[in-house]
Amino acid sequence: MKGVILAGGLGTRLFPLTKITNKHLLPVYDRPMIYYPIQTLVNAGVTDIMIVTGGRKSGDFLSLLGNGSDFGLKHINYTYQQGEGGIAEALGLCEHWAAGESVCVVLGDNLIERNINKAVADFRAQTDSSGKGGAKILLKQVHDPERFGVAELDGDNVARIVEKPKQPKSDLAVIGIYMYDARVFEVIKTLEPSERGELEITDVNNWYIQDASMTYEVLEGWWTDAGTFDSLLRASELVAKGGANRVD
Ligand code: DAU
Repeated sequence: MKGVILAGGLGTRLFPLTKITNKHLLPVYDRPMIYYPIQTLVNAGVTDIMIVTGGRKSGDFLSLLGNGSDFGLKHINYTYQQGEGGIAEALGLCEHWAAGESVCVVLGDNLIERNINKAVADFRAQTDSSGKGGAKILLKQVHDPERFGVAELDGDNVARIVEKPKQPKSDLAVIGIYMYDARVFEVIKTLEPSERGELEITDVNNWYIQDASMTYEVLEGWWTDAGTFDSLLRASELVAKGGANRVD
């Protein structure tokens, strides 16, 4: 399985912090934001990684990360998203590189306390010999579900995901870590832009739900995004207090 980190977009919710740089280069406590999703993948044994950058100062990722020696990597792949056409559009840029393998996608502004090792192992186990593995998402109970994609459960299954619902039917946010089989790239080609003009990852996830090949797990430990002033502050506080990406 290959790893994809999405670090494009213009980060407009963090203006003016992001007026001259890319959101994922901003500090979260003692490290640049992008370090955390990279560590999430490396800790899960996913070491063939593509970073999708975009917007301002995208060349700085290369100066900062190089070939990934800070993470024990020998090589990192980079690509560029023109504009901000959405999370699914950014993922679509990785089709050629993924070359038929499944992918674990981490949003560049998502941090976790612990690790995704079990979910990655479970996803590998749900993949059959032909490579058809469906998809897996991770959920977390939150107090502000209207900020996220929200999962509605039906027994052991996800019945539906609604992107930023005004009146959420549950408090289970879909966190920004997704696993997909190689069909994801065909699914992305069928998407239409949403009202906010983006190709939505929630539409991809709902496709797999319709296909009856979506599984979910509830993440252990804290999770936060860092894309707003409040969540960026919260992320720094959580890391300062107990650290992120614990493997135990
Ligand atoms: O954080 C989890 C949430 O992330 C999910 O619950 C939502 O379902 C999902 O849509 C997403 O919501 P946001 O509106 O918070 O996503 P945002 O636009 O902040 O983008 C998150 C990351 O995705 C961002 O840090 C970089 C990457 N991205 C985003 C866009 C719009 C790209 O690489 N390219 C893009 O065009």
